[in-house]
Amino acid sequence: MKEAKDSQEVIGIIGAMDEEIDPLLEAAQIRGKRVVAGMEYCEGTLEGKPVVIVRCGMGKVNAGICANTIINDFGCTRVLNAGAAGSLDNQIDIGDVVVSVDAVQHDFDVSVIGFKKGEIPFTGLYAFPADEAMRRAAVEAVREVAPEVGVFEGRVCSGDQFVSTSEQKDRITSSFGGMCSEMEGGAIAQACYLNDTPFVIIRAISDKADGSQAMEFDAFKAEAGARTARVVQRMVQNL
Ligand code: ADE
Repeated sequence: MKEAKDSQEVIGIIGAMDEEIDPLLEAAQIRGKRVVAGMEYCEGTLEGKPVVIVRCGMGKVNAGICANTIINDFGCTRVLNAGAAGSLDNQIDIGDVVVSVDAVQHDFDVSVIGFKKGEIPFTGLYAFPADEAMRRAAVEAVREVAPEVGVFEGRVCSGDQFVSTSEQKDRITSSFGGMCSEMEGGAIAQACYLNDTPFVIIRAISDKADGSQAMEFDAFKAEAGARTARVVQRMVQNL
């Protein structure tokens, strides 16, 4: 995942829901917990490496606050965001894994005053790029722990909405392309960009984001969370 060993390296691991972080907390040795802004940061080691694991809750505000805190208050030098997502691409099926090339906030739109759709004014960016080495490490880890599933590298589209109609899906993909929809990655990406901290987003597909099978998300969210947790654990082990 990185070029040189660095004893100061601390990996921040953020999930939105219990299902996404509980398997990691079980696998980790936690030596302390501290609550900041209602989020419980669990400090310890995973596979012998220093980590901070936290459930940020759902949505971009939670995620942005969390990423900023994990970097500035907990000294994390890299950030992993793991969990479930809806598929935006017919080729990507439930159970497959998407690793971020970059992340956009599909519901951010100040185009009426001259910015691109999704562009965050004054950053000049509408898509925040993930760290390449972390991407490669994530893909390798998926192939190692879940060789039976497809692994796709592409754009993660985040917004404060659970995408559940074809119309929503089409609106997002016609503006941004994108492989999956979720509710946190774009904000974590922006916070990492502002703090010059490498990140990657790893999402297992829990639903087709079109309401086609209303129970898909409930049925697959635990499976998706468990899958991305295994990927994260292997990535940390491979460090
Ligand atoms: N997380 C899992 N599935 C999702 C969807 N369809 N939209 C937004 N976030 C999700």
